[in-house]
Amino acid sequence: MNDGDGTLAANDQGRQFGPLGTALVIIPTYNEAENIKTIVGRVRKAVPEAHVLIADDNSPDGTGKLADELAAEDENVQVMHRKGKEGLGAAYLAGFRWGLENGYGVLVEMDADGSHQPEELPRLLTALKSADLVLGSRWVPGGRVVNWPKSREFISRGGSLYSRLALDLPLRDITGGYRAFRRETLQGLGLDEVASQGYCFQVDLARRAVKAGFHVVEVPITFVERELGDSKMSKNILVEALWRVTAWGAAERIAKLKSLGGGRAAKQA
Ligand code: GDD
Ligand code: MN
Repeated sequence: MNDGDGTLAANDQGRQFGPLGTALVIIPTYNEAENIKTIVGRVRKAVPEAHVLIADDNSPDGTGKLADELAAEDENVQVMHRKGKEGLGAAYLAGFRWGLENGYGVLVEMDADGSHQPEELPRLLTALKSADLVLGSRWVPGGRVVNWPKSREFISRGGSLYSRLALDLPLRDITGGYRAFRRETLQGLGLDEVASQGYCFQVDLARRAVKAGFHVVEVPITFVERELGDSKMSKNILVEALWRVTAWGAAERIAKLKSLGGGRAAKQA
């Protein structure tokens, strides 16, 4: 993705942002044989200048083989075959590393099942011209979810609200997985220390970006629940998210108290 006119964009605080460079859309897959060809076709059509990396965890349903067929037909589609199911976080970390090594200027996260509509990607990339990280957001005005049961919406909204309060983040959709990062942003997040495996990986990266002082912008999206295949959401994924967010929040509060105490001690001395 190129910035077009080559001028620098400025955000509302007057900060200047450099041109974007080529975008790599990373699509993690586990058993997405029914979806992979459709989603890659939609990405290539909606944003022809973007490249695609499929990060497959050796899906038993043959997704990896279908991905190889796509890559054979199109030089801008690559496949990363991973040895087994290690979670969304590990697949994205490997994909980011590959994208950074190969010089991409923008790294995009997108689900394989059509929930993240490729046709909305140009809006995310436009917003990234004057931001460090753009989050596709279901929970800002204009954002919405299609075909989710109330129970799933409750879990997702609750997860974002809990993360927002526990981690003191000025964001509405903290668990979402449709995002565009500038390469410099990813390089500044300390990816080598990220241990989150499941969906809390998304919370982890959002929190790191805010704490590092990056300019994070939420853009409304319409999230469409998958029609084919199954969600990989599980009790383990929720439990991991709950304990990690709680632990990060507690650590931050302890650090704040310590620095307050240190300040007082310094004044008294
Ligand atoms: N490589 C790999 N390994 N891919 C995985 C794994 C894994 O262990 N687990 C899930 N995926 C892939 C799926 O194949 C899909 O492309 C994407 O990750 C999202 O998985 P879904 O199972 O469709 O997620 P969801 O619809 O329940 O969850 C959505 O909402 C979550 C909460 O808001 C996604 O947008 C998540 O990113 C988001 O955190
Ligand atoms: Mn999904």
